[in-house]
Amino acid sequence: MELARAQQEQWDSAYARRPCLHGAEPSAAAHRAVQRFGAAGIDDVLELGAGHGRDALFLARQGFSVHATDFSETALDQLRHQAQREGLDDRVTAALHDVRDPLPPADATVNAVFANLLLNMAFTESELRSLVAEVHRVLCPGGVFVYAVWSTADDCSRHWQQLDDGLCMHDGFVGRFFDQDLVRTLAEPWQLDELTPYDEGQRRMLLVAMTKLPAAQVAVWSPTEMSH
Ligand SMILES: C[S@@+](CC[C@H](N)C(=O)[O-])C[C@H]1O[C@@H](n2cnc3c(N)ncnc32)[C@H](O)[C@@H]1O
Repeated sequence: MELARAQQEQWDSAYARRPCLHGAEPSAAAHRAVQRFGAAGIDDVLELGAGHGRDALFLARQGFSVHATDFSETALDQLRHQAQREGLDDRVTAALHDVRDPLPPADATVNAVFANLLLNMAFTESELRSLVAEVHRVLCPGGVFVYAVWSTADDCSRHWQQLDDGLCMHDGFVGRFFDQDLVRTLAEPWQLDELTPYDEGQRRMLLVAMTKLPAAQVAVWSPTEMSH
């Protein structure tokens, strides 16, 4: 809890010190999400860890309705302000939410979830599993989750200060580098549609897209089957 609170303060003051911290250009993952969501006929998106909204605003400009959440009120204020300036406030809403808490939507009510550089934040593996389970719970069957994370192929993964539970720290920011095994583990009840390494700026990244299967298609493990 202390780490979580310290990270929240760290992010909030980073956004206050430097508005538009991540720049105005959308991420590569947001471009991919537009293709994926568009191909699935989806026009509304829940974005987690949206920051000051470079991707939420981009998605809205492409015609999507976006509900953006983050645990930094400062970042969300910047997002709301920019949405208003661009006349996109009818398509973008923003709400404070810490993804360690259950996601607000009811079961199976969301068509698409997007998260760029959120899952690689300061979460224990158990928090990560809960978060992905929450995304699974709120998505409708056939719903799509697109996320991007730092990859262990990035040189920084060796140079940052190592903490417990696979986390590491740089400049007061705590995060995790993902290998493909971790992505596959988190994808277990899902259909993993895409796992693509790519570079963005100086970062080596992984792009992940997965679909929530209808209940009938989820392989059910049973001790009886395992004993044969
Ligand atoms: C690297 S930034 C990415 C921001 C945005 N997705 C982008 O690409 O511009 C990570 C974001 O995750 C948010 N964040 C970190 N931990 C969070 C948590 N537990 N709940 C909600 N947001 C969180 C931070 O406030 C920050 O805005």
